[in-house]
Amino acid sequence: MNYTYEQYTESAAYLRGWLGGFVPQVALILGSGLGYLGDVVADPIAVSYADIPHFKASTAPGHKGRLVFGTLEGKKVAVMQGRMHHYEGYSYEEVAYAVRVLRLLGCTSLIVTNAAGCVNTQWQAGDLMLISDHVKFFLESPLRGENLPQFGPRFPDASHLYTPALQEMAAATARVLNIPLRRGVYMYFPGPQYETPAEIRAARTLGADAVGMSTVPEVITAAHCGMKVLGFTLLSNMAAGILDQPLSEQEVLDAAEAAREKFSKLVLACLGQL
Ligand code: HPA
Repeated sequence: MNYTYEQYTESAAYLRGWLGGFVPQVALILGSGLGYLGDVVADPIAVSYADIPHFKASTAPGHKGRLVFGTLEGKKVAVMQGRMHHYEGYSYEEVAYAVRVLRLLGCTSLIVTNAAGCVNTQWQAGDLMLISDHVKFFLESPLRGENLPQFGPRFPDASHLYTPALQEMAAATARVLNIPLRRGVYMYFPGPQYETPAEIRAARTLGADAVGMSTVPEVITAAHCGMKVLGFTLLSNMAAGILDQPLSEQEVLDAAEAAREKFSKLVLACLGQL
């Protein structure tokens, strides 16, 4: 199925009805552990995904499933508390649907965060990583199907999906805050099973530093419609086969909780400079 331009504009019109002239500038899609930032937005207007025409619910643990508009670090934001994942049964187009709606509402930048497995053996679980680029092979694109030229071209350039100037800003901000920040390549895997040790060795050979099950569809869609993108990963666990222990969701959630303070400090400081 492909959404029509009219469906995107219907969702945007519904949300404008709640916003009373408020125009968000920055969209935030917050992964495991950082969703609480949606709770600290000033003058919040919260709308459940379930109430927005054409939106899908978010079913993953720790994902609330609502959009929160308001002010954070002095910026007008739209925070997605909870994202959709392909493994929940959604198409990539559905996963990225909200990004285009937020673009229509006025957002010109997107900050994405996620938790991911650490592939780079020089690094450690608990480290933070700025996403410089990604690898996504084989699977469908969120842009598959009829192109909607109102959003962008049929064959968009993908040389700089993660806006270089924002990467430099984030690296400089991390230095000032004295928060160690790695920079590397995120490789997308669809999940929901974690990767096999052989897949992780393959990922490493292909240039990946981290592996995860989110972010990439939203980033492709955001860049296609001209948004600037800044992406952060919490390396919540060493990827499969590196340590002699099984991966678990609990490990990921615990790591997200443990990193929450430094992670949110960094993300908020970067938001303030957008
Ligand atoms: N693999 C994929 N996704 C993840 C991981 C992982 O090891 N950790 C957190 N999300």
